[in-house]
Amino acid sequence: MRVEALVFDAYGTLYDVHSVMRRCEACFPGKGAALSQLWRAKQLEYTWQRSLMQRYAPFSTVTREALRYSSAALGLPLADHERSLMDAYLHLAPFPEVPAALERLALKRAILSNGSPDMLEPLVRNSGLRFDAVLSVDELRVYKPAPQVYELALRRLGVAKEAIGFVSSNCWDAAGAKSFGFTVFWINRANAPVDGLGVAPDRQIAHLGELADEVLR
Ligand code: 2OP
Repeated sequence: MRVEALVFDAYGTLYDVHSVMRRCEACFPGKGAALSQLWRAKQLEYTWQRSLMQRYAPFSTVTREALRYSSAALGLPLADHERSLMDAYLHLAPFPEVPAALERLALKRAILSNGSPDMLEPLVRNSGLRFDAVLSVDELRVYKPAPQVYELALRRLGVAKEAIGFVSSNCWDAAGAKSFGFTVFWINRANAPVDGLGVAPDRQIAHLGELADEVLR
């Protein structure tokens, strides 16, 4: 079926979460990469754990708790750096190819993200990227890859399930979207193997610039 609308994951797909590394490095010389990696890993882990425990907290809280854990685990005193590092998350850089790639994609498009509105809305605004809708899991109080999150995009966009092209760099998210029934494009920037979750994305692309060739052919 032809793709009629595109739904994008935000963090790690459109926006480079590791663009915080420079600020991490400025706060903790020599430890920027380690802090950035652990922070992101814990952030994701906490979303899944909280969903399983049915103890939802907004992504801004999860991100702050993950930062506190990661800095403690690495022996880095956070103090005043917390504010500056949390602020960096509102100014993440889009991946370099993203603005031009979105220009080429003249389809209805939305973001569907684990981000809470207090993080997601300033991020999108600061980046200058434009979308028809910015959808957050926050109203459902459960995180991706829970199927009801993908259902939210379906309800809001009013397009048949298979006609939604879901785009994510996070393989677990691509798997969740495929399991739900979207047509899925996994941006595999790191040339990683597919996660063993029992579902595979429909297409793999190396960067967002390849998406237009896939959906407009
Ligand atoms: C998202 O934007 C966390 O990358 C994930 O939903």
